[in-house]
Amino acid sequence: MTLLVPLLFAAYLVLYAFALALPPFPHAAAIEQNPLQQKPQYSLDEWLQREEDIALDNLLANVAPFGRNVQDAAPGSVIASPSKEHPNYYYQWVRDAAITTSTLVDLYADDPFDPLSSKLDIILNAYASLQDELQHTKNPSGTFADLSGLGEPKFEADGTPFIGSWGRPQRDGPALRAITLMAYLRAYNASNPSLWTSDEGPDWFKPLYDPRMPANSIIKADLEYVSHYWNASGFDLWEEVQGLHFFTAMVQLRALREGAALALAFDDSGAAAWYTQQAGLLEKFLPSFWDASKGHLIETLSSARSGLDCGLLLGSLHGSPAANNTVPGTPPYAPYSDEILVSLLALVYDQRNRFPINSAPPASPEGTSPLEGVGLGRYPEDVYDGYGTTPFGGNPWFLCTSSASEILYRVAAHLQETDELEITELGMPFWEALLADAPSFADLKPGSYGSKDGLFVDVLERLRSVGDGFLEVVKKHTDAEGSLSEQFDRVTGFERGARDLTWSYGAFLQAVRARGRV
Ligand SMILES: *[C@@H]1O[C@H](CO)[C@@H](O)[C@H](O)[C@H]1NC(C)=O
Ligand SMILES: *[C@@H]1O[C@H](CO)[C@@H](O)[C@H](O)[C@H]1NC(C)=O
Ligand SMILES: *[C@@H]1O[C@H](CO)[C@@H](O)[C@H](O)[C@H]1NC(C)=O
Repeated sequence: MTLLVPLLFAAYLVLYAFALALPPFPHAAAIEQNPLQQKPQYSLDEWLQREEDIALDNLLANVAPFGRNVQDAAPGSVIASPSKEHPNYYYQWVRDAAITTSTLVDLYADDPFDPLSSKLDIILNAYASLQDELQHTKNPSGTFADLSGLGEPKFEADGTPFIGSWGRPQRDGPALRAITLMAYLRAYNASNPSLWTSDEGPDWFKPLYDPRMPANSIIKADLEYVSHYWNASGFDLWEEVQGLHFFTAMVQLRALREGAALALAFDDSGAAAWYTQQAGLLEKFLPSFWDASKGHLIETLSSARSGLDCGLLLGSLHGSPAANNTVPGTPPYAPYSDEILVSLLALVYDQRNRFPINSAPPASPEGTSPLEGVGLGRYPEDVYDGYGTTPFGGNPWFLCTSSASEILYRVAAHLQETDELEITELGMPFWEALLADAPSFADLKPGSYGSKDGLFVDVLERLRSVGDGFLEVVKKHTDAEGSLSEQFDRVTGFERGARDLTWSYGAFLQAVRARGRV
């Protein structure tokens, strides 16, 4: 190990120098062929099937109890990465943990009687108990008494507060945690049909939701936090910028809408009315994130940044239920909304030209769409290279690249389920890019299309193939063992940043799940 690291680093420097010396990167693909890393040649389908198991195994390795990388962590904690130095990600972030756990809830809900689910059930219960403790742990963001402590973004793996200076508070965590635990509550309730009306019912539900004991009900406490603090400024999901953020607002809105429905189910009608009222205000406020002059959504209001951001994709994905909507009404800025689609297009254009590896020739000759899969990073101005900050240091991230494919698959699934494609002037740039060179491109104009139209059929086909293109990029940059770190190098394409990033695995699994519905 000690010998290998300097060797790899030297190899990296040579490759890097070689890459810099090249003319405008036409040979970036050739640089990928590193003899140190011979990978078997799998088709995308074969690889996805294999990688799905690896990703779940590596994700669970970072979750206590049972995880091999978290032997000393409190049961229920989800660490961001096993990396303890360069960089140190060995903490539990409320946001990352809730997002990861929601993937586990989905797996549990698929089949609560599967052997995996009995293990997941233990993990989910431990997660819930630990969240209760974290909510009540006094920390640098505040305390439970006025709920301010719920805005604390991260804790030590053993559940004690992290006291170093940090970008705090962050107001997305409680919303995401409520969404995850509400999904768990519904899944558990659905698989135990007599529980709701039985004598044990209240005992099981109380720690999650109890109108009379809000101080001891995790979901209720989070919903109170979201409903009282959603319009207050906080740090963004990348923990860098203070303000009001699209990602945060989207998950807060979803939490409030689902929370209102849950409150009604528990006869907590006063709370339901309050959550509904705040959700209505938040929904009216959300269009502030649309910038008509730029032609895309922006992640943070009044920010010096362009606003193009992978957080827009993540906000749409986590702010919109993937299936079986639990609250009536269409969520704003769902993956299939015009605003998200043109924002995705703008982000892809930016990142294609920004990163040398994205200029490599297309893998397949038919891959000529302007939307063709590329490595996506967080945002254009990013300077974090996975270890520190350097000018122009940003790289593509696995979780952003996977999220682009999830958006496209979810659009396809939505079209299949509704059998209706509405093309408007606003969305035209996206559809033009998607259908470039497709047989029906000439027919493209605003209007309504159904599954009998050639255009609809072409759109579905392209959504799936372009979505696959982004997963091909993930496949290309994954190492031979199937491990996913945080980033992959913009020049050499090799993995960099925190190893085995839990969120990289979760985002990949969610993308593959969405692909399965198409
Ligand atoms: C729990 O399930 C019962 C039916 O088994 C249903 O009537 C009730 O609304 C469910 N509760 C929630 C919160 O989903
Ligand atoms: C939310 O905050 C924004 C920006 O500070 C402000 O313009 C808006 O009026 C606030 N909305 C509500 C409902 O409080
Ligand atoms: C919605 O839920 C029903 C019943 O739980 C299930 O049969 C169906 O496949 C789900 N639909 C989607 C799109 O997941």
